[in-house]
This record gives sequence, C-alpha cells and structure tokens, in this order.
Amino acid sequence: MSLIKADIGSIPGHVTVAKPLMTLAEKKMAEAQKAGIINSYYVFNAGDDTELLMTHSKGANSPEIHGLAWETFMACAQKAKKLKLYGAGQDLLSDAFSGNVKGLGPGVAEIEFKERGSDPVIVYAADKTEPAAFNYLLYKIFADPSNTSGLVIDPRMTCGFSFDVLDGKENKSVVLRSPEELYSLLALIGATETYMIKNVTRNDDGEIAAASSTTKLNYIAGKYVGKDDPVCLVRAQSGLPSVGEITSPFLHPYLVAGWMRGSHWGPFMPVGLKNSKCTLFDGPPRIVGLGVQVSDGMLAADDDGKPMVVDLFDDPAFDLARQEAMQMASFMRMHGVFQPARLGPGAMEYTTLPQCLASLEGRFKKEK
Ligand code: F6R
Ligand code: MG
Ligand code: MG
Repeated sequence: MSLIKADIGSIPGHVTVAKPLMTLAEKKMAEAQKAGIINSYYVFNAGDDTELLMTHSKGANSPEIHGLAWETFMACAQKAKKLKLYGAGQDLLSDAFSGNVKGLGPGVAEIEFKERGSDPVIVYAADKTEPAAFNYLLYKIFADPSNTSGLVIDPRMTCGFSFDVLDGKENKSVVLRSPEELYSLLALIGATETYMIKNVTRNDDGEIAAASSTTKLNYIAGKYVGKDDPVCLVRAQSGLPSVGEITSPFLHPYLVAGWMRGSHWGPFMPVGLKNSKCTLFDGPPRIVGLGVQVSDGMLAADDDGKPMVVDLFDDPAFDLARQEAMQMASFMRMHGVFQPARLGPGAMEYTTLPQCLASLEGRFKKEK
C-alpha cells in the first residue's frame, strides 16, 4: 500500500485542493488501474495536499508506482497553473524524475505485507504540520498502555513494538525497542525538532505495523519551499492495536509545529473530509483519518467497485477534541508573534531575523 502526496496547487491560497485537480488525479489513477499498474486507489485531500492512496503488488519504492504518482502530480500541477491556483506545482522540486519521488518533494508512506485473513488499515494525512507531529501519536498507539490496553491484556501484543527513528538533521536512523528502551525512545522522539518516526514493527516477528513519511522539504531544498505535511499508514487488529486504539489519541488534541507560515505551534485538530481545509490563521493544523480494509490486494470495494472508505473523524466522538483544539488555538493566538506561540528561531520556516540583525549591525552597543 502506497500513500503518496504533494501540494500541487490550492484554492484559495493554501486552504484546500480544487475539485478539477482531484478529478484529474482520479482519472490518471483509473487509467493506471486499467493498465494493471495498480490494483485499486482512492484520491482525497488533506487541506491543500492531494493524496494518492494506492494498492499494488510492485513493492515499496517501486519506480513504476513512484513514476505514476509523479506524472499524476505533474499533470495536476499543469492544470493548477492554467487555472492560476495558488502555489501550483510547489512541491515538485525537480523537472526530472529519477525513479523515486523521495527527495523530489512529495511525501511517501508505504507498507508491504502479506495479507492476513482480514487486514484493516488506518490512513492518516495531515496539513500545516511536519512528520514529527506523528511522534506523539505513534508513541501513544504502540508504546503507551494507558492508550493501548492491548499492550497489557492481549498476549499477542505484550512483546511490544520497535520504532525506527530518523535524525532529520544528521540523516541517520536508529531502531529502539519498547518497552525495554522506552525512556531512550522518548528522549529522542520528544525532541520533535530533530527526530521523527519512520516506521514501527512488532517485536516478536518484525511484522510491519506502521510507516510514515519523513520528507523534510526545508532540508531538501536548503531553503523554505513549502511544508512537509505528513502521511502515515497504520495496520490494525489481531495482534496489532485495534482501530479504536489507533484513533483514541485524538480524544484530546496536542500541539504540533506548523500552522501559519510553518512557524507556529498549533493544536492538531482531527476532522472529517468535509472539514479538511485550513482556514483560521491557515489552520489550525488538521488531520484526517480514513479506515479501509485490504482485500485480495485491493481496497475492499462496494458492489459498484468503489472503495469503501470510512471517514473516522467525521463523528461526534471527536467533537470534544475539536472544541478543545479551538480553545487551544485561541489561547495560542493571544500570544501573537511571541514565543511560545511562535516556534524557536531554528524551527521557523519563515523568518526575518537574520535580515533584521544584519540591518541593525553597527547599532548594537556592548553592555558595560
Ligand atoms: C503553506 C502554509 C501557509 C503559508 C502562508 C503564506 O503550506 O502553511 O501558512 O505559509 O499562507 O504563504 P505565502 O508566502 O505563499 O503568501
Ligand atoms: Mg498550498
Ligand atoms: Mg499543505
């Protein structure tokens, strides 16, 4: 299963994806399905990001699948340019495709697995935040028994899970086992400016349980070119966390880095697809959660062949989190451009501090 996403243009400004772009992406996916490149697909949006969910049997990092996503995004970007939509093609950082979209701008989460008797997968896609926004989420799901009671009371899960953690600054990674190395794991992934979780596997058999995108656009390009809004795939049930354990971290929202100009802390608000649009102060950062079943290599489909996708956060169970998120948003915005509403200088995607300091050079007087 591959989830590949990019911001290839939005309306108005950075709010949401325009319908004609989604329609074009769907058309490209349908053609690829007909041609036998993919088995099934679902196109959706997370705020201003276009998301391509695909099942296929080409494995992870397949040049064919990545090429298909790249061409689809290119075609959508062309259309966005014609319509003069905002930021048309902003996440496509190269003219040349070289076999893998990683490093070229789009975000990718892929899981390769042998189908079980029944295989539920939860698809998370977020806007106006960064991959490390999933650190807390994945910790809660796979390492915190107060969230996931299965870690304690399901004998198939007491072995715990291993986290592959990327140091985004040094571009190196380390695997840490929970519960044995929980405190080391938390020491790293609590530092969200540097560390992000790449994937999670079950300790006793190495079974893949989750994978997330770890693209950092600002590191790739060396300068700000857009946000690395992340995606994540989480497998559920039968010895893995249940669907409800995967969604329950969103009983309450938590603060993530991103929001306006990628430079503020804001509450991570779970929303249904109909509210997958970043409005207030370009946010708040939002996450959609979709539930699917993989069935014979396909997204399980209804009688018309349409994939059955359950919009998990389109539910009153998440009203409390949304209310709390808006209270947190209001509280954070009361601080204006002051920290802690504003990110630390090293984490801001927009900043004028260096220019400001340069222009004031010579005017600073040493204190006696
Ligand atoms: C982009 C984003 C937005 C923009 C902001 C300024 O993903 O999150 O908050 O950073 O709207 O955008 P520009 O500089 O394009 O006017
Ligand atoms: Mg945009
Ligand atoms: Mg975005």
